[in-house]
Amino acid sequence: MKKSSNVIWHQASVSQQDREKLNGHRGVTLWFTGLSGSGKSTLAHAVEKRLYEMKVRTYVLDGDNVRHGLCGDLGFSNVARRENIRRIGEVSKLFVDAGMIVLTAFISPFRSDRQQVRKLLDNRFIEIYCECPLNICESRDVKGLYKRARAGEVRDFTGISSPYEVPEAAEIIVNTDSLNLHESTQKIVRYLADQKIITSST
Ligand code: ADX
Repeated sequence: MKKSSNVIWHQASVSQQDREKLNGHRGVTLWFTGLSGSGKSTLAHAVEKRLYEMKVRTYVLDGDNVRHGLCGDLGFSNVARRENIRRIGEVSKLFVDAGMIVLTAFISPFRSDRQQVRKLLDNRFIEIYCECPLNICESRDVKGLYKRARAGEVRDFTGISSPYEVPEAAEIIVNTDSLNLHESTQKIVRYLADQKIITSST
């Protein structure tokens, strides 16, 4: 990645390991990806609540919210989406360095963009594919955007007029149309305990 000229990395005297020790768990990114309406945000917030109850330090970065601020200047072209995901990857890296579990809920439709973030975060990236058929996402249409996209009022809409590239090797696949929220949350929390990212799932 490019960096500004004449800047030298300042090494912190408190390390990521120190912060993880203090927190009592590892720092990782839980990267939720899937179509609009596939349940990414709902699930990310449910997992966060469960982790909070377990005294885990967490933070949710959510596409719609981040696009009100940090990424408010970006639209939905392929290039803009790539920049969106790049910024979120960099922000996630900071949270992970802080020893936290960051949960990101972005469509992130392009495999290569997700791959870049995976590389950036090394082994601290857990891809969670919220798998849900388009017709079900469309029938939910919580924000009314599918209807507007079908009517040609929203351009480049994922699943309608812009592609979604299904993950090939996601660490976790959650079928949000068949599992309920509790079951989906349990699946993720159990994975974190199994991988020793957190100490226990109870
Ligand atoms: S991403 O593709 O760059 O990862 P992101 O997750 O930040 O997208 O934003 C997606 C959200 O923006 C959707 O949940 C939806 O509410 C809204 N949105 C508005 N326009 C579009 C569009 N053209 N395609 C997809 N989502 C859109």
